[in-house]
Amino acid sequence: MADEQRDVIEVLEHDHREVEEMFAELESLRGAATDEARKRRKDVADQVTIELVRHSVAEEVLVYPQVDRKVSAEQAERARKEHAEAEETLARLEKLDADDPRFDDELATLMREIREHIAEEEGEMFAHMRQVIDADDLRKLGARVEAFKKVAPTHPHPNVPNEPLPRLAAGPAASLFDRMRDLATGRGTSD
Ligand SMILES: [Fe+2]
Ligand SMILES: [Fe+2]
Repeated sequence: MADEQRDVIEVLEHDHREVEEMFAELESLRGAATDEARKRRKDVADQVTIELVRHSVAEEVLVYPQVDRKVSAEQAERARKEHAEAEETLARLEKLDADDPRFDDELATLMREIREHIAEEEGEMFAHMRQVIDADDLRKLGARVEAFKKVAPTHPHPNVPNEPLPRLAAGPAASLFDRMRDLATGRGTSD
């Protein structure tokens, strides 16, 4: 069992690939005129939001503190700032219908922000983590990230600071509220 556990970098990079696939689908549906295609764009935008929020909060609570201590405080701080900016974009995007002209603009902003952020994490931060954190600890952290994502919030909460303590303090109420809203509206259920 322990041998099958993916390490934290594998877990996070797998999430990144899923997000990129959803971005590619959103781009392929750009300018689509049918109601069905517009609905699909909104659904995929909701799914990408859910994934990005869970992933980002898990990184902020479990991964960036390690980066802060063992890799580079500057890299951790930059990553938190980038999360905060993307979270503002997600919050604006969430309020828009797919036929609103601002939807495409916000989506384009989000994709640019996240693609740059992913490139920095994979190109710098994760590479440095592998050098300074031993393989067993990376695997244990992978298990914690997977477990945490299951209970993390699913909607952007840009007013909550992107630090572990405020995230954890707001977490149980935010997650429960988010998941109840999702159940009530059917958000994130189609794939
Ligand atoms: Fe990430
Ligand atoms: Fe990140």
